[in-house]
This record gives sequence, C-alpha cells and structure tokens, in this order.
Amino acid sequence: MGRGHRRKQREHRADADHHGAAAFDVFRGSPVTAHHNMVRCFRLPVQCQYAKHLGMKTVMGDHDQRIDYDAELHRHNEALRRTYEIEPDDRVLDIGCGAGQTTRDAARLASDGWALGIDTSADMIARARRLAEAEGLRNVAFEHADVQEHRFPPEPFDLAISRFGTMFFRDPVAAFTNIGTALRRRGRLLMMVWQGHDRNEWSVSIDGALGSNVGSPVPTPKGLDPFSLADPATVRQVLDAAGFTAVTFTDVRQAMYFGRDVAAALEWIGGFACTEAALDRLDPGDREVARERLRETLALHARDDGVWFDSRAWIVRASRP
Ligand SMILES: C[S@@+](CC[C@H](N)C(=O)[O-])C[C@H]1O[C@@H](n2cnc3c(N)ncnc32)[C@H](O)[C@@H]1O
Repeated sequence: MGRGHRRKQREHRADADHHGAAAFDVFRGSPVTAHHNMVRCFRLPVQCQYAKHLGMKTVMGDHDQRIDYDAELHRHNEALRRTYEIEPDDRVLDIGCGAGQTTRDAARLASDGWALGIDTSADMIARARRLAEAEGLRNVAFEHADVQEHRFPPEPFDLAISRFGTMFFRDPVAAFTNIGTALRRRGRLLMMVWQGHDRNEWSVSIDGALGSNVGSPVPTPKGLDPFSLADPATVRQVLDAAGFTAVTFTDVRQAMYFGRDVAAALEWIGGFACTEAALDRLDPGDREVARERLRETLALHARDDGVWFDSRAWIVRASRP
C-alpha cells in the first residue's frame, strides 16, 4: 500500500468523522431526498435534447447511424478523460451525469474505488443504470437527486467531475457549496462547461438558422443558461464563495459531431425540444424557410466523415482547501 493511499485513507477517515456518520454503502443506495426537477427547454438545441430525447435518439434506416449525446461529444469526452487523473482507489462523484458515460469511465479508472452519478432526470438515471449493468460494472451507482440539496454519503469523495452538468443550478453558490461538502480535504472538482455562445460555432450557426429574420430567439428560462459558466471571472467568484480554491481554466477546442450526413443531422437537431419550440412559434411559411436555412447551414458543415461544428469549452479545475 503506497504512502499516497495511506494518506488518503487517513483523510477519508478524518472527513468521515467530520461528517459525523458511519461508512455509507453506495451499493445499498440511499433515499432520494430531492424531487425530480424537470429539465425545461433551454434556448439552445444541444441542451434541449435532454428535455425531449433524454440524451438518446436512434436515427437508423437510410442513414444506419446511431446518434446520441455521447456520439456528439465523443471528442470532448476524450479531452476530459485525459485530465481526470483518477487513482485506482478513488471515490468519484459525477454531477448531472445524464446517461452516465462519464460515470462509467470514472468507475473503470477507479477500479478499486467507485463512482456515483447524480441527475435530476429519473429517465436518465434509469438509462444510466441499464448501461452500467449491461457493461457489467459493479463499482458504479446512480441516484435520482438534485445535487444542490442532496445529502451526500458521509464517506467523502476524492473527486467530483462533470461533463456539461453544472450550468443549470438554480443557486450555483449553494450547489457548489453542497458539492464541496461531499469532497474530502484537498478533494478536487473537475468540470467541463461551455465557453460563451459567440465562441461556439454550433450555437451561433444553429441559433442563427432557426432564429434570425424569423423572430426573436426562444427565451432562456432564468437559471437554465448553458453558457452560465462561460465567464471565468464569474466562475471564480462562484467557486470562491462556495469555498473552493486553486481555480484554473483549460481551453478546449473540439469539433462536435451531428450525424453522418445532412439528413441525419437535420433529424437529430430537428428533434430537440427547443428546435421544435422555435419552429412552432413561426407561421407555416416561415417555418419552412427556417427549416431550409437549417438544412443549408448543416450542408455547409458536412464533410466526408459527417456533419461537424466547431466548439469551445473550459475544463475548470478547483479544489477543496
Ligand atoms: C447537458 S446534460 C449533460 C449530461 C451528462 N453529463 C453528459 O455529458 O451526458 C445536463 C444534465 O444535468 C442534469 N442536471 C441539471 N441540473 C441538475 C441538478 N441540480 N442536479 C443534478 N443534475 C442536474 C440534467 O438533468 C442533465 O442530465
């Protein structure tokens, strides 16, 4: 047993004492304390798939091509996975885990530890459980809960990760403070969040195709802005107020995949709840114009290997003192 491992065990014990409770068996599960917070339609399509397709959609037939959020973000996921630095005995919390690809990745890396994914969507959690079971993973668990108010297991986590699951908190300081209480001393937070709308080609292009000249963009409900953590100064302020230190930002520029060809991409994007909402606001003539403009936009981004848009994200790192 290495020195690092023993140090971490001591810190785990100290933190468990600090939390004042006995060890928590993640596989027994814990009562769901939070109510299901329905994910409403965000302004931008990529986020909206969660309102409708719950992160998964199969476009088969002519295209013989499966598209889902994991496929769309596979390059982002590779970039994120390279930065985790998960040790075999780590305990990992995945915030807003969705269908749990990142939770499963973490569980595989934490082969002697475990990973817990939390999400407010009951359907996503059910899917995450099915996928983990299908992959035969035994050191992973999922909870349907709101991380902002969830009572975490007393046995503290070494690391909290998130792939685009931290931008929608009603009260970000409260949520990150609660996440901080779940971490051991010097435990780490590592999350991927979008940079601003203007830096994201996918957002500008799709929004433009659906919104410009045909009315104002679909409004963003307060607190559900996918770009809410785009500004480093704001993120620093929030994390500082939540008790985190050593906040750093890594620029990630990656292409996003929208399908094998224009028809597949159109079907994928057209199925997002907010795409439908944007189109529903138009009269039939304008709707056709907007749909055609979206098709043209996608055609401009079609290559031999599919439809791709540029994107910019941050990997934000912070730690508990
Ligand atoms: C853009 S999706 C990302 C999902 C997942 N991380 C992935 O990359 O596939 C955002 C997720 O955050 C979840 N979410 C939003 N607010 C949350 C909260 N307060 N607590 C837990 N999950 C939340 C949503 O239900 C949704 O599944």
